[in-house]
Amino acid sequence: MTTSTPRHGPAPPPMADSKLFPLGRHSAPPSGDYRWVSPWGGPLRFTHWLAAITITVLIVTGFFINRPYFLTTGGPPQYLMGYIRLTHFVAAGLLVMAGVVRTYWLFAGNQFERLPALFPLRPRDWVNLWKQVKYYLMIEDDHGIHYIGHNPLQQLSYTFTYFVGVVMVVTGFAMYGQAAPGGFWYTLTEPLVLAVGGIQIIRLTHHLSTWWFIIFPIMHVYLVLRKDITEHGGGLSGIFSGGHYIRADIEYVDE
Ligand code: HEM
Repeated sequence: MTTSTPRHGPAPPPMADSKLFPLGRHSAPPSGDYRWVSPWGGPLRFTHWLAAITITVLIVTGFFINRPYFLTTGGPPQYLMGYIRLTHFVAAGLLVMAGVVRTYWLFAGNQFERLPALFPLRPRDWVNLWKQVKYYLMIEDDHGIHYIGHNPLQQLSYTFTYFVGVVMVVTGFAMYGQAAPGGFWYTLTEPLVLAVGGIQIIRLTHHLSTWWFIIFPIMHVYLVLRKDITEHGGGLSGIFSGGHYIRADIEYVDE
């Protein structure tokens, strides 16, 4: 993480006429000192966007595989399903590549990117997690708990997302193996297929888990935008540039 000296300057002008937003509550205007932090390294940002793109492709092509030709009217173009499946498998390979880089970065990254940052293990984290839930539900206005990296609720939901990603890869390769009985992927995944009760259980798991990758990004984008609007730190641009502003006059649990 790099920090720079606090930014001092004149207080910004008050917010515009509140009648403009009759339905919502205002977030407080930016005030006080801010400082710059850079918690997100290049490999983390690269894998974030590679995963976002490949998972989007996997969802669209996956639903097409599940219900062929929902995108077309009339007869299917020749070999369309073959191309769709190929796209699914290429995206799957790229997602696995992102996973390999991210796994390496769990050990080589900074304090906000390493393995321990993924788990709310200390009792204090669970207390903060509950406060964070109340804050998101707007039961509490300012919970006084601030993190530079991920708060405990983010730790839990992001780590769960990684877990579901592993489930997708394992179940995906188990289905992939079915095309060549006795082949490498078939032999590797056969014990799992037998243990869970057959390939249809694997397929159902693959299908149902897909929904997490639809629900999660909606919550994720909403909370990122909400934080940006309420905290004025430019957190959204942090996943492009690596850094964002944080208030200089408060303490951070994970610093
Ligand atoms: C987040 C990642 C992924 C998503 C969202 C996703 C989504 C889907 C969906 C919705 C289906 C249709 C399932 C059904 O028939 O009900 C599917 C099928 C399939 N997926 Fe994935 N998938 C992902 C990752 C993977 C990976 C990593 C592989 C590894 C090779 C894979 C291989 C397959 C295979 C083999 C099928 C069945 C294809 C067929 O029957 O022709 N998927 N996927």
